[in-house]
Amino acid sequence: MKVSCANFDRTGDIMIIPVFKDFDKAPNNTTVGLGRGPSIAVKAAAASDSISGKVGESLSVWTKGCTVIFIGVGEKGKLTHKVARDTGAKCLASLSKDLGNNIVIRFTSGWSTENMTAFAEGMMLRDYQFDKYQKKDEENNHDGWTLECQAHDRHLEVLSESIEKASLVTTGVHLSRDLANEPANRLYPEEFGRRALEWAEGKDNVEVEVWDYARLQKEGMHAVIAVGKGSIRKPCMVFFRLNPNVQSDEQVPCIVGKGITFDTGGISIKPSQGMWDMKYDMHGSATVFGLFQALWATGYEGRVDGITCMAENMPSAEAYRPGDVIDSYSGKTIEIFSTDAEGRNVLSDGLWKAAELNPSYIIDLATLTGACVVALGQEASGLWSNDDKLRESIRQAGNSVDELAWPMPLLPAFEKEMTSSKFADVRNGGKGRYGGANTAAAFLKQFIQDREDENGDKSEIPWAHLDIAGTAWNVDTNACVAHGGTGVHVRTLHHLITQG
Ligand code: BES
Ligand code: MN
Ligand code: ZN
Repeated sequence: MKVSCANFDRTGDIMIIPVFKDFDKAPNNTTVGLGRGPSIAVKAAAASDSISGKVGESLSVWTKGCTVIFIGVGEKGKLTHKVARDTGAKCLASLSKDLGNNIVIRFTSGWSTENMTAFAEGMMLRDYQFDKYQKKDEENNHDGWTLECQAHDRHLEVLSESIEKASLVTTGVHLSRDLANEPANRLYPEEFGRRALEWAEGKDNVEVEVWDYARLQKEGMHAVIAVGKGSIRKPCMVFFRLNPNVQSDEQVPCIVGKGITFDTGGISIKPSQGMWDMKYDMHGSATVFGLFQALWATGYEGRVDGITCMAENMPSAEAYRPGDVIDSYSGKTIEIFSTDAEGRNVLSDGLWKAAELNPSYIIDLATLTGACVVALGQEASGLWSNDDKLRESIRQAGNSVDELAWPMPLLPAFEKEMTSSKFADVRNGGKGRYGGANTAAAFLKQFIQDREDENGDKSEIPWAHLDIAGTAWNVDTNACVAHGGTGVHVRTLHHLITQG
């Protein structure tokens, strides 16, 4: 979607006029540019009882050359960025392509730049399709929406800048959704790596490095290997680096993603019902990739590291088994209770590696447990951290972009449970099903390294874990996503990294 900003002048094929609750006549500037007849019709519609301005209400007025649509956004004093964004998204979803390509929104009065941006952002986010494997409808010659956001001159400078930024971040969200929506026969670990390399081509401040199967063996990434070796699509690790040559003596964030391109469960095979959507089990990695796109596109100048742990979890003669004791990059051994608890295994290598990059903090994202969906539903990702400040800043970043991250307990008892294996250092499943999302987080914590400060005192590297099993796929209540991968937390982490 091409987006621009201007003052009240041009009318589009479609002109959206957001209105507040109990407005009684067309807001100033509503009809600028319309002919006399259309203006009268539009003003009459606004003054009628056919729309009151409640959230979600709409009223369309056809006039020759321009369809005017009033959209209710509720009480002026109560307009939040969430309401604005969601209303923008739903508004875009409701538009018929028969009306034309050209959308104008008129933010007449009572709008903050933040809310105008959110409304436009909702439209941009929702303007997404994953139809690359479908034949094009010959009759459909719509070549994409353009959007002009109109506001008073005094807003335009700030508004253009913030809308431009939102549009660039959206490219990251959409990339992450593309990756999540790709089926597993087309997007397997090495293909993810290839796409990352291709993405980095020609960008002089990014570096991507892929560790293939041979390299993983050489480096001793045994946990990733154990999970991935059952598939003919071999595992790999992908390293993303933004601005690798700056801040070389500073600590910078490292973001780690679970990247199971398909999770059958392995030998602990899943029931076939609903298995098909386990192609999104790489959404953690998709978020990392999308985040790097968003950071790069918006010109972020700091250094950032990313690691995605890619494998396909398949049953086969070469697959790992329950009862196996596997090695890991950390040197710790892991007893496998379920080959279906594979995400934590691949992350154990990625997290241990992350510490070697001397990060300011580590955040991992993973579609890790069904238990997290049971606990929180699809409205919030689970958030665990060994550091109060980091947990709070992620929570706040999530709130400010309306992608909720909900604090969950990282209790010593869970750690004790996960280190109680009789045969290995760590066990990859809890003793029962209770608190399954918490025990998974406690497992991950075993792979966060300590570091020494100037006084020789040791402390754990600040780390947070986001379980996105519930928020990454088919979230009916997410107005910005029709279906499929959601791109969750690209915006959260972009906000966290660029705005603290
Ligand atoms: N990828 C799944 C978790 C998942 C389930 C994500 C549903 C999205 C929707 C993960 O690898 C898994 O299978 N976890 C097991 C863990 C158990 C074996 C300890 C689970 O949640 O049942
Ligand atoms: Mn699994
Ligand atoms: Zn999984």
